[in-house]
Amino acid sequence: MRTNYCGLIGTQYLNQTVTLFGWVHRRRDHGGVIFIDMRDREGLVQIVCDPDNVLAFQRAEKIRNEFVLKITGLVRPRPEGTINTNLISGEIEVLTQSIEILNTSLTPPFMMDDENLSETVRLEHRYLDLRRPQMQKNLRLRHKVTMEIRKFLDQKDFIDVETPILTKSTPEGARDYLVASRTNSGHFFALPQSPQLFKQLLMVSGFDRYYQITKCFRDEDLRADRQPEFTQIDIETSFLKEPEIIVLMEEMICNLFSNVLQIKLESPFPRMTFSEAMLKYGSDKPDLRIPLMLTELTDAMKEVEFKVFREAAQNPGGRIAALCIPQGSKLSRKEIDDYTNFVGIYGAKGLAYIKVNSLEKGLEGLQSPILKFLPEETVKIILERTAANDGDLIFFGAGKLKIVNESLGALRVKIGQDLDLIEPGWRPLWVIDFPMFERNEDENRWQALHHPFTSPADGHEDLLETDPGKALSKAFDMILNGSEIGGGSVRIHRRDIQLKVFHALNIEISEAKEKFGFLLEALQYGAPPHGGIAFGLDRIVTLMAGEESIRDVIAFPKTQRAQCLLTQAPSLVAEKQLQELHLRLRRTEKQET
Ligand code: AMO
Ligand code: AMP
Repeated sequence: MRTNYCGLIGTQYLNQTVTLFGWVHRRRDHGGVIFIDMRDREGLVQIVCDPDNVLAFQRAEKIRNEFVLKITGLVRPRPEGTINTNLISGEIEVLTQSIEILNTSLTPPFMMDDENLSETVRLEHRYLDLRRPQMQKNLRLRHKVTMEIRKFLDQKDFIDVETPILTKSTPEGARDYLVASRTNSGHFFALPQSPQLFKQLLMVSGFDRYYQITKCFRDEDLRADRQPEFTQIDIETSFLKEPEIIVLMEEMICNLFSNVLQIKLESPFPRMTFSEAMLKYGSDKPDLRIPLMLTELTDAMKEVEFKVFREAAQNPGGRIAALCIPQGSKLSRKEIDDYTNFVGIYGAKGLAYIKVNSLEKGLEGLQSPILKFLPEETVKIILERTAANDGDLIFFGAGKLKIVNESLGALRVKIGQDLDLIEPGWRPLWVIDFPMFERNEDENRWQALHHPFTSPADGHEDLLETDPGKALSKAFDMILNGSEIGGGSVRIHRRDIQLKVFHALNIEISEAKEKFGFLLEALQYGAPPHGGIAFGLDRIVTLMAGEESIRDVIAFPKTQRAQCLLTQAPSLVAEKQLQELHLRLRRTEKQET
């Protein structure tokens, strides 16, 4: 039997005999004496093998990195000068009495304390990568987070109910993962993009408060904060209005940070309307740690000679905004070009700028390729509104509203990072008063900004028909340090309103019945007013762990190409399996190779 974890043996165990199980982190042969750093999930301990113990010493000589050992030995103080204050076991060592080699190991492809590994190598050998202390720490943090969430929700009388994985499509805005049915030829299940409709049905069933920590599946373009399968903390309640849900969920997140990280988030979190967020930050998930804001200039540019600005100002769907960078006039020509390329990713056609060298000198003190196209009066307005100081640089975005917001919003974050402007700490925020719909320009139709089951704001029901673009919803997002960690809403609980929303989304009644008939029917049997939220567990843990990528807090994640490098999934399947599923591939394997 194990008596202790390696990493937890402190001086209180001096002179005791311990039995340890673990892996060889490193073996050092010091002319006659062999030292082994032995590792288990709690950390390292130093093992000493003395040649006097002939059998143990012979075995120790055979030992290599990552062998699995059972060791019994005596805890004794380390000699002076060899104490390691970074380890709990840093003041002791274990003098071996017996060694058992439980398993050998091939030479691993990397050392467990190597910090500069390529992600490909890590993911191919994920079971070894997960031995690394950082990954052990991350997954244990994740465990603590889910435990705290469960504890909190249980105390608040939420009931954990599982919902199906083989189900019907729920529109959360991504492509579905489909599973072919063997027993129903030509029919498919969709993996849930979220349990949205099931949790609403559970409210109709009278459970009153539901939660689930569950996998969701979305076939979408992946980024550092997105995985094709990810985990939601999914929550729904009956009879609460948005402000009540917001307060309860804020309490949950504060409780989480306080119990897991001993960090007190300042509550109540600020609440910002969607339109204010777009106006000031060009984003519906502003990172409030970056002390930069957009300046609105559309109204001031209607008559200027500079065509790019004038046209954007005169176009009803256009915007001109500025971003003033303190001490930005230090930026080189090359850096400005790089930022111009950067905003190009978001569709911006350019990135005009003014360097403010000396306000005292008036126009002479400014440096810019566009000054000659702007009246002095307009330049004055720009300087006033941006409150620019000597040494600052003002960037401009002009064009379609969406492009200006996205490009300047992203530029704000990039410059915040590049110029080290990000203030330390935690800046949570609620974004509220979202519009019901956004325009899909490519397909020339409205689409739901959240999902089609989100309730319109009180009094906005008629706008669904008369002016859908103006209708606001009862949706809310929780943002933390620029990351959208949760999104929810009060739902539609009346069939007639749900049909109006489907209508605005161009979903015909026959299509609505085919796709969501079960919901429309349920709404007719005493559906209570209800609402809820889902938090992205992976994103929350990523932030709490201080990691860059969501993949570092998921045991077995997928790559940006949605592949599992460990198991090599997705993979080809046998012709027989396809036949059973009534499927035939369009391209044969031969054509592919
Ligand atoms: P939403 O689509 O906003 O809402 O998702 C909720 C939260 O889940 C996280 N998230 C993701 N995390 C990792 N990878 C992804 N691909 C991914 N997509 C989303 C985000 C997001 O805030 N049914 C609604 C919730 C509701 O209305 O109750 C929903 O799924 O942190
Ligand atoms: P041009 O007249 O195209 O040479 O552009 C003059 C300046 O305006 C350059 O600094 C461009 O980067 C900038 N510019 C061009 N189009 C835009 C735009 N849509 N928004 C902001 N700046 C732009």
